[in-house]
Amino acid sequence: MMGIFRTKSIEDSIRDTEEPDHRLRRNLNALDLTVFGVGVIVGTGIFVLTGRVARDLAGPAVALSFVVAAVVCTLAALCYAEFASTIPVAGSAYTFSFATIGEFPAWIIGWDLMLEMALGAAVVAVGWSGYFTSLLSTAGVHLPDTIAGDNPIVNLPAVAIVLILTVVLVLGIKLSSRVNLVVVTIKVAVVLLVIFAGLFFIEAANYTPFIPPARSTPEVEGLTAPLIQVLFGITPVAYGVLGIFSAAAIVFFAYIGFDVVATAAEETRNPQRDLPRGIIGSLVICTILYVGVSLVVVGMEPYSRLSEAAPLADAFRAVGQPWIAGLISIGAIAGLTTVVMILMLGQSRILFAMSRDGLLPKGLAQVHPTFGTPARTTVIIGAATAVLAGLIPLSALAELVNIGTLFAFVVVSIGIVVLRRTRPDLPRAFRTPLVPVLPALSVLACLYLMLNLPVETWLRFVVWMIIGVAIFFLYGHRHSRAARDRP
Ligand code: ALA
Repeated sequence: MMGIFRTKSIEDSIRDTEEPDHRLRRNLNALDLTVFGVGVIVGTGIFVLTGRVARDLAGPAVALSFVVAAVVCTLAALCYAEFASTIPVAGSAYTFSFATIGEFPAWIIGWDLMLEMALGAAVVAVGWSGYFTSLLSTAGVHLPDTIAGDNPIVNLPAVAIVLILTVVLVLGIKLSSRVNLVVVTIKVAVVLLVIFAGLFFIEAANYTPFIPPARSTPEVEGLTAPLIQVLFGITPVAYGVLGIFSAAAIVFFAYIGFDVVATAAEETRNPQRDLPRGIIGSLVICTILYVGVSLVVVGMEPYSRLSEAAPLADAFRAVGQPWIAGLISIGAIAGLTTVVMILMLGQSRILFAMSRDGLLPKGLAQVHPTFGTPARTTVIIGAATAVLAGLIPLSALAELVNIGTLFAFVVVSIGIVVLRRTRPDLPRAFRTPLVPVLPALSVLACLYLMLNLPVETWLRFVVWMIIGVAIFFLYGHRHSRAARDRP
């Protein structure tokens, strides 16, 4: 058990990035990072989850849920920005916790981040497949139910998009970010189209009551009840003020990704200046877009009639504007593509960092001689994500992604306070304001959202983490570089 809290010094972390065999190419700037951020942030959350959450949990007040989730993310983002500007090394929260709290917590975070990124990518790929299939059927092409649609045996379009993106990522990050720029432009244009075209179809009556009265529904019974309501002995309810928070815990998914910007630290030309700009800039842009979209959509249709699979497009179909609906579907397909791609990019970099540290087999951390990308980890992640995307249904897994991500935010926020104490000397291009108050608020806010997730999500999360602890003690603890350097 000795040594599981050994840390890896920040100088060591930065020095690792200079080793020729393990060096990534540095060619991203603040604009690339913001585009990256928006590319991974705007996706299934706004295009798909908004409808289900407004209908089942919050009503028109879903716009407030987006604000609540944005506040939680902003607190965490201010902590991420200081970390990313101090330790510009691939691996995000994994690297940060290794530098501050120790090897075992770092492993736990790395393992946990697989829920955010690999599982997240699979979930979004399934959403992509849904939009793709629906667009094809609009064009008169019908895929068999066994390979696409609601309950396929193998979700073939989802597998295909993951494999194509894996190839793009292996070929090189600059290519990826160029593709990304085009796609992000289309996606943001479509979101703005929803907001401005939707304004003409708003019925004021749809906003009353803005916060529907709390009541019990099948959506919040048994294992699907939010943990906090069960803990406090409340008969689980949807809507009302409590419903706003349960909804916030789910639409939190829509903001996931700003932290992924930090995983590109090693590939950024001037990380100290550009990372905080990229992280906070993309978060602000997305918050404005989400509040706008959700207000418009619940104004266009009574919330109880919003559709599950394609709420934005269907709201326009409902008001007799099929061609706008079609454009939205195309934008959603483009948008979800970049989300899958960047989540896979972040995951491959984290796996790369974990292998470089010896917590996983070190051979995985070879950089491709021609492309300068971590090709091996990218291919592994691509294969795993393709299998997940082919076999799992979308539904509740988004909540598992959320709990994993919120947990990482908690650890990063604690890490900021630790790092101020242990390494006050380090140059910090960006300093989190009001330490330790702000990080403490961030921890509380993230925990509060986690408690608003369903009981079943907590059970799945605990099982996943137990598996991770077992692997650490069976492999990583003995093979890690820290173990060999300091026996
Ligand atoms: N924030 C990303 C999405 O909404 C994960 O799809």
